[in-house]
Amino acid sequence: MIDQLGFQHVYQPPTAERSGTPTLLLLHGTGGTEMDLLQLGRMLAPEAGVLSPRGKVLERGMPRFFRRLSEGVFDEEDLKVRTAELADFIAAAAAHYQFEPRRVIAAGFSNGANIAGSLLLLRPEALGGAILFRAMVPLVPPALPHHHDTPVLISNGRQDPMVSVDETERLADLLRRSGAAVTVEWQSGGHELTPQDINGARRWLEPLI
Ligand code: MLT
Repeated sequence: MIDQLGFQHVYQPPTAERSGTPTLLLLHGTGGTEMDLLQLGRMLAPEAGVLSPRGKVLERGMPRFFRRLSEGVFDEEDLKVRTAELADFIAAAAAHYQFEPRRVIAAGFSNGANIAGSLLLLRPEALGGAILFRAMVPLVPPALPHHHDTPVLISNGRQDPMVSVDETERLADLLRRSGAAVTVEWQSGGHELTPQDINGARRWLEPLI
């Protein structure tokens, strides 16, 4: 069931009392749900609020955040529409749950990282930062956005059969040319998340909390 804010989702308020605590926007991979990354979110930032939507596109029954034509080949028109929908959902959720929209930090895996990348490129106001695990170039916009040092971590695997080293570098370059402050952390493995990803992301996130 899609709720009044537009996405089936979980929201958990921050456990810290102080103001300015960020909200982690958790974006699952293909076949995931809004429950998948809740534990990851707690490991990354135990005190942060959490907003975790379920992707609305179904690929043979598997939830995703946008359509693809084949593996790694995206339906760009759908991606643009879904990116706008997700940005509007974040704004609606911020008003509804009373969190600061500029303090939203995405943490996305695979398909979730790709829509987070698309938010950074098409709706730069939607996120205050992003952790992209196993991300690809989602699309190249006709005009680059203007970020003011939005912090972005790309944590990709050197042996990933789905995302080449070259593609990771193209994504980092695209985001840097858009004004984002990009850190790339290389993991030795493939497409699966490892404890090193989580430790690296936790360290990267610490000064932003
Ligand atoms: C995508 O479709 O976003 C990528 O191929 C990664 C994935 O399999 O979800």
